[in-house]
Amino acid sequence: MSEALNGLKRTKMCGELREENIGETITIMGWVQRKRNLGGLLFMDLRDRTGMLQVVFKEDVAEEVAIKGDVIRPEYCIAVTGVVVKRESINANMPTGMVELNVENIKILSESETPPIYIKENLDAAESIRLKYRYLDLRRPDMQSIFYIRHKASKAIRDFLDKEGFLEIETPMLTKSTPEGARDYLVPSRNYEGMFYALPQSPQLFKQLLMVSGFDRYFQIVKCFRDEDLRSNRQPEFTQVDLEMSFVEVDDIMTLNERLISKVFKEVLDVDVEIPFKRLTYKDAMERYGSDKPDLRFGMEIKDISSVVKDSEFKVFKDAFEIKGSVRALCVKGGSSMGRKDIDRLGEFVKTYKAKGLAWISLKDEEIKSQISKFLSEDELNGIIQSVEGKPGDLILIVADKNSVVFQALGALRLEIAKKLEILKDNKEFNFSWVTEFPLVEYNEEENRFQAAHHPFTSPMDEDIKYLESDPGRVRAKAYDMVLNGEELGGGSIRIHDSKLQERMFNVLGFTSESAWERFGFLLEAFKFGPPPHGGLAFGLDRIVMFMAGTDNIKDVIAFPKNQNAFCPLTEAPNVVDLKQLNELGITLIK
Ligand code: AMO
Ligand code: AMP
Repeated sequence: MSEALNGLKRTKMCGELREENIGETITIMGWVQRKRNLGGLLFMDLRDRTGMLQVVFKEDVAEEVAIKGDVIRPEYCIAVTGVVVKRESINANMPTGMVELNVENIKILSESETPPIYIKENLDAAESIRLKYRYLDLRRPDMQSIFYIRHKASKAIRDFLDKEGFLEIETPMLTKSTPEGARDYLVPSRNYEGMFYALPQSPQLFKQLLMVSGFDRYFQIVKCFRDEDLRSNRQPEFTQVDLEMSFVEVDDIMTLNERLISKVFKEVLDVDVEIPFKRLTYKDAMERYGSDKPDLRFGMEIKDISSVVKDSEFKVFKDAFEIKGSVRALCVKGGSSMGRKDIDRLGEFVKTYKAKGLAWISLKDEEIKSQISKFLSEDELNGIIQSVEGKPGDLILIVADKNSVVFQALGALRLEIAKKLEILKDNKEFNFSWVTEFPLVEYNEEENRFQAAHHPFTSPMDEDIKYLESDPGRVRAKAYDMVLNGEELGGGSIRIHDSKLQERMFNVLGFTSESAWERFGFLLEAFKFGPPPHGGLAFGLDRIVMFMAGTDNIKDVIAFPKNQNAFCPLTEAPNVVDLKQLNELGITLIK
């Protein structure tokens, strides 16, 4: 049985009713959370987007109303009219717990089968079921509050950028491969058989064209598509807050975005974010934290102990110096409580980051224990302890290798130990920073060539342009990432706007002039017509909302996400298509 509204209007929301509403006759509409029969009295909790209200069917309710009350089950969608009264047994856990609704009339708007998942907070149902019945999953109050946060964040971003003179301009979804470097999602063309559009990995080139057009300040809250391996903070389609500015330098973009972020956190969470953010160069970040997205909520910095052991006879250290590497260490405060097994496990852990081993020195109760003490002189051992400021109770962990491996291994180890020792337990801090002066290019050992570290339109730092051809690996870029608690929130750069410099950059990256023109010709052409100096940045909106909502799963902040295999359990996309559609596209599938 489903009844039509027939002119019945909702006059209140469930969650807004308080003592001052007592005596009012109201109509609410929503879903039945639960139903209880207590000695002739029937109670229901009715839920809508704003919260829950208790509804009572008293003994004197009309018979037809009582009959409906009997058949109603959880998740039925109903409308209830009645009088707000003071609740007999007050429920302090509910914002509406002082009152209840005395039912006079009721409409069953639609029935519901028993839902396959519980509609309740902190549900622990399997993800596959949650995603298959996502519309029910999204009925849960904790999910609804995430989308409220997401809405507020987007609105605060739009309001801020509008005030700062930015124009929101849409860019194409059916376009050409963009330079972010992930795999593209392709869309076959019917008009041009055998040809494909690519879905944008970002609006990068279009926003640069908009600068050539003179829009001066552009932004867009926009879907981007990347076919890459998914992780807890990565989806195949995700949302960027993308922006670009003309006539600016690195500092202008960073300060504007700091103000943007602090405004959004204030508005949405009422949290004061201190600006300016800390700034670290990429080199500093790697040397001190072994990461280009350092978690600055705790210390435990990496220390270079190379100079202390530079003449050591220990083969492991010698080998590292031979390949121009280094020996570096972490000093774990109180870490000597870890047993041999724990340390061995850490040794296995660093091996997944290509380290060949993990040396350790334990400073338990003044006594020095180490598996490498037999290889080191007393001076060397004491020198190491001094240079990391080791104190009784500490554990020193050492990796020797080429620098990239040392940084990776110790950077990951630092985070692993923080997790293990629960250093960040109950930490509610939002610790923002900028990492600047990224390398312009990085060497791809598999392909034996340099590739852009950010993208090929990123400008080198002026003082490093002279090394562009002679020593590309040494050139730093006008590129920056915003980092929050060890996650990359956003990144951007000042772009090259000089076609000669752009050509040199393409040469370094091994593009022939033809291949560069084939891929990016439209941008190079545009740059013939007075491009302004410009630069910008893009945030991952999903990642910002993840922090605001306190979840580490990106799927929680996307209404209809894909699972870990880029599949949508709700719609079952991707799926096969009709032969007719394939024929129109001139596509034959190879079995
Ligand atoms: P970048 O590739 O660094 O830069 O992307 C910017 C931000 O987008 C977010 N992000 C993702 N979020 C969820 N899932 C993904 N698969 C995913 N990939 C990226 C991250 C990242 O910091 N056009 C340049 C920006 C510029 O130079 O202006 C760009 O796209 O939070
Ligand atoms: P080995 O002589 O290879 O047995 O190494 C002696 C100790 O040094 C072992 O406990 C290893 O875990 C440790 N070790 C080996 N390689 C490295 C390395 N690259 N960095 C730090 N410690 C290492």
